[in-house]
Amino acid sequence: MKLGTPLSSSATRVMLLGCGELGKEVIIALQRLGVEVIGVDRYANAPGHQVAHRAHVVDMTDAAALRQVIEQERPDLVVPEIEAIATDMLAEIEKDGLAEVIPTARATQLTMNREGIRRLVAEELELPTSKYAFADSLNQLKMAIDGGVGYPCLIKPVMSSSGKGQSMVKGADEVATAWDTAMSAGRVKGGRVIVESFIEFEFEITLLTVRALNAQGEIETYFCDPIGHLQKQGDYVESWQPQRMTPQALQRSQQIAEQVTSNLGGRGLFGVELFIKGDEVWFSEVSPRPHDTGMVTMASQSQNEFELHARAILGLPVDTCLRNPAASAVIYGGMDKAGIAFEGLPQALRVPQTDIRLFGKLEAFQKRRMGVVLASGGSASEALGRAKQAASLVKPVAE
Ligand SMILES: Nc1ncnc2c1ncn2[C@@H]1O[C@H](COP(=O)(O)OP(=O)(O)O)[C@@H](O)[C@H]1O
Ligand SMILES: [Mg+2]
Repeated sequence: MKLGTPLSSSATRVMLLGCGELGKEVIIALQRLGVEVIGVDRYANAPGHQVAHRAHVVDMTDAAALRQVIEQERPDLVVPEIEAIATDMLAEIEKDGLAEVIPTARATQLTMNREGIRRLVAEELELPTSKYAFADSLNQLKMAIDGGVGYPCLIKPVMSSSGKGQSMVKGADEVATAWDTAMSAGRVKGGRVIVESFIEFEFEITLLTVRALNAQGEIETYFCDPIGHLQKQGDYVESWQPQRMTPQALQRSQQIAEQVTSNLGGRGLFGVELFIKGDEVWFSEVSPRPHDTGMVTMASQSQNEFELHARAILGLPVDTCLRNPAASAVIYGGMDKAGIAFEGLPQALRVPQTDIRLFGKLEAFQKRRMGVVLASGGSASEALGRAKQAASLVKPVAE
């Protein structure tokens, strides 16, 4: 394993597919190691574009366009940051030996569709999940609920993220509206839905799990401390680390994460989402890449999730240990407008042990994540209090 000089013939080249706030941090971590980074997104000047060596604007769901940019740039590694990618083309690229896909093309194929990953985890690996069924029509959906999923349940497009198109349904009279919501918001119009029984969990966690090379040159699985988080309408608003849990629940969580990630294979960091109640654990979903709730690690770990991903994919050793408890709180756009500004930063950053990331997104929406406050503390709850207080002092304003 060696790293070259960027912009020279010895360069180690990495292409990020997706340049949002998570991709931006992966790029910064790679830049610090002298890696040559190419950022690809669907729009110009995306957050990661602003810190990459070169930027491309490409519709990554267009297989031919995706192949073209990879052939043009010839990266050593292709690192997907988003789900909406022509993943069958990634499989071809991997098969043709054009570039290594992180973690594996198969992992990106299975996780871009809720059906792929759910069937793998529940039916092949036989790990605990909510009860679930798939439906292609309102009628099938009703039959699936009556046939065993029951109420309350959650209805989600099989291809969607950040809670888009999801609804919770408490009774038969709400099913038709939930179907319509899913149909209008899925990534693929007229698609399929998953209906899941509602799990009455005590809390939910993201277990950041890293597959990286050990001293023997073999892939080993490493775990970060569990991250607790709060979701509103399927989108994360706060996260903290460590989340306290029973030793049994932690052990069970790590076993589940180990089985799922070793099946998906490859090297890199994964965000394994789990629901917890006492000693009981259910698998929910997994990102084969850094996770939004894991932004807290920028304040809590000596190697944050982006640095862990960068090191793991390059074949370098990782250290997942917690440095101190910390928390993150999201800053939303609060308005639909391009080129907004942020006020109240001095007041926010006067809250002890806080830090901020403003992502540099060109256009704000009411509920678009524009930044995040990070805070540390003597405990996760102290850190969370600070993060929320500081975030509340940041005011998005028009121009
Ligand atoms: N079966 C379920 N039972 C209870 N809560 C759920 C269930 N499925 C999803 N949720 C809640 O909705 C959130 C978003 O769902 P998720 O499947 O992770 O969608 P996304 O891919 O948009 O993140 C979860 O983090 C959890 O809070
Ligand atoms: Mg999720």
